[in-house]
Amino acid sequence: MTGSELVAENSQEHLPVLLQEAVSHLLSGSGASAELSEPSDVFVDATFGRGGHSREILKQLTPNSRLIGLDRDPEAVVQGAVLAAQDQRFSIHQARFSELSQVLDELKIGSVQGILMDIGVSSPQLDNAERGFSFAADGPLDMRMNPTEGQSAADWLNSAEEADIAQVLWMYGEEKNARRIAKAIAAARPMHTTLELADAVSQATPKPRGFQRKHPATRTFQAVRIFVNEETTELERGLEQGFQSLALGGRLAVISFHSLEDRKVKHTFRQLSQPPKMPRRLPLRHVDALVPGRLVCPPIKAALAEQTANPRSRSATLRVIERVLISD
Ligand SMILES: C[S@@+](CC[C@H](N)C(=O)[O-])C[C@H]1O[C@@H](n2cnc3c(N)ncnc32)[C@H](O)[C@@H]1O
Repeated sequence: MTGSELVAENSQEHLPVLLQEAVSHLLSGSGASAELSEPSDVFVDATFGRGGHSREILKQLTPNSRLIGLDRDPEAVVQGAVLAAQDQRFSIHQARFSELSQVLDELKIGSVQGILMDIGVSSPQLDNAERGFSFAADGPLDMRMNPTEGQSAADWLNSAEEADIAQVLWMYGEEKNARRIAKAIAAARPMHTTLELADAVSQATPKPRGFQRKHPATRTFQAVRIFVNEETTELERGLEQGFQSLALGGRLAVISFHSLEDRKVKHTFRQLSQPPKMPRRLPLRHVDALVPGRLVCPPIKAALAEQTANPRSRSATLRVIERVLISD
């Protein structure tokens, strides 16, 4: 199989969400040169995955521009290397969001014109039972986006205090049966596979009266995945370093898939784009009203046609901020 066949085949595995919306907002910041052809035009796809967004960005960039791809998952990086071999404007780096500034420093890039973060997991991660993300297929209980880093889901669940498990399920899964489920997990230890975890959760969850759309283990798997991969901290650091890395007029576009993530993005963007509240009647000085960011558009949801074609897009929200002020 040739490199391009490999990329084409793998690109089928993950349907990029809000593709045109995200890429057009990313590339139309006033930080990018009008012709998109200055050597200084550098963009970042911080969540390469299978490269759906990266390929679309590359289609629209002219020969002198650069696209830096990042992903913490070694399998995504292998796919990125195939694309990098085909297109010299693109390079791929195995790194976390929290290492974005470090990667740009190492590449001697001072600032960039746009950064895309399409957060969460990719379809290949979910579909490959060996990765341990899915309650629908049996596999080792792992759930790490980078399986060489940190603690697997099994290692954590087999050693954590029951109360800590309940806390994680409540905080990251908004699971209202968190205590019951944590108790069932503690009783079923040691557990090694995804189906052992899914069964323990199902048994601990009261049966709903009517039709249940979601598997009872959905929230538990989400919560454990977020905890094991430290996704909340990663997102916070990614947003902070991403915004700091933007050139004047550069844009940060973020696609999130659940309310916890979207709340964090919304809150961060609001803080960057709204002046702090001052006590009433206190005259507002010009300097108090200066903010570093501007919200580019209201939050964007997938159109009905995309939601029908790709059910995963139903929960996606795109938010975009532009850097309008750089202070020392
Ligand atoms: C939803 S997928 C991206 C799909 C991609 N836009 C595409 O079109 O193929 C999210 C990707 O981000 C990666 N990822 C998630 N959190 C990350 C983090 N903190 N640092 C780096 N990569 C991360 C995952 O490994 C996954 O490959």
